[in-house]
Amino acid sequence: MTAAALPPTTGVTVRAPAKVNLHLGVGAPRPDGFHPLVTVYQAVGLYDDVTVTEAPDWSVELVEPEVAVPLDGENIALRAGRALVAHHGLDLAAHVRIDKGIPVAGGMAGGSADAAATLVALDRLWDLETTDEDLLRIAAELGSDVPFSLLGGTALGTGRGEVVEPVADASALWWVVVLADDGLSTPAVYRHFDELHPDAPAEPADPTALLAALAAGDVPAVAAVLENDLWSPARDLRPDLVEVEADLRSMDPAAVLLSGSGPTLLMLFGDVDAARVALADVTALGHRATIAPGPVAGAHVVHYG
Ligand code: C5P
Repeated sequence: MTAAALPPTTGVTVRAPAKVNLHLGVGAPRPDGFHPLVTVYQAVGLYDDVTVTEAPDWSVELVEPEVAVPLDGENIALRAGRALVAHHGLDLAAHVRIDKGIPVAGGMAGGSADAAATLVALDRLWDLETTDEDLLRIAAELGSDVPFSLLGGTALGTGRGEVVEPVADASALWWVVVLADDGLSTPAVYRHFDELHPDAPAEPADPTALLAALAAGDVPAVAAVLENDLWSPARDLRPDLVEVEADLRSMDPAAVLLSGSGPTLLMLFGDVDAARVALADVTALGHRATIAPGPVAGAHVVHYG
């Protein structure tokens, strides 16, 4: 069959992962209001699937409509689509359908995953051949975590989180992800960080010990140095997390960590059997939880229609 005889692509589905921050070092706010970060991202196996189809106008739909995600022009997937089309000087539009597997407002970059997946899906749908460099630049304008959602794996994030560089990671981690009933506002957590740390450094310190432990695949050493500067402000804003944290520590994980700006909490295990026991225990205590392995791939095509 010649290329001209091929039917046009009608729909493309791209899967993008949630992230956790193995290290989240936060500095004093910059003149633009964002905080300088030194962070180590890891993509974990909870996913949003985004399916795009060409349409006369932009629209977005959720497979589970009860999920609290804006469906107007503020939706980050629509903003991603418009930004990509503008970058290429095109006048095209698409329908974007989102199947959410990542907790909403949980500190796991679900919105960023949708934006990254939309960029990749539309690039393939319309055969735009956007360079990686341009995709990363457009992603950075959409949100601090969007470039990492494209990249996946394990990466060092600097700037406001948007400058990403893959790092060596020989570890295989098992996360028990413990969900909270209500979300937590990321800007509110950063604002409270500023109140707690009026003398935060301009440049957060490098996570040298963590990077060495990841490169060596040494899970106990990784567990010993996990750190999140947003944990104490998030605890202040959500005192209910303290009790959940105590429940999780009683299950003897290698570590307990707040995911990003929260309120999702994480238990770390080095093997899946221990993670499954903890999942059963934490569920029996009445918490909603799931298991996610890390690291996993960034945004990738799973279906061409
Ligand atoms: O970049 P993104 O849109 O994900 O950021 C959401 C909010 O989180 C920002 O408006 C800002 O309040 C806060 N933030 C910050 N410093 C960062 C990243 C995010 O203050 N490095």
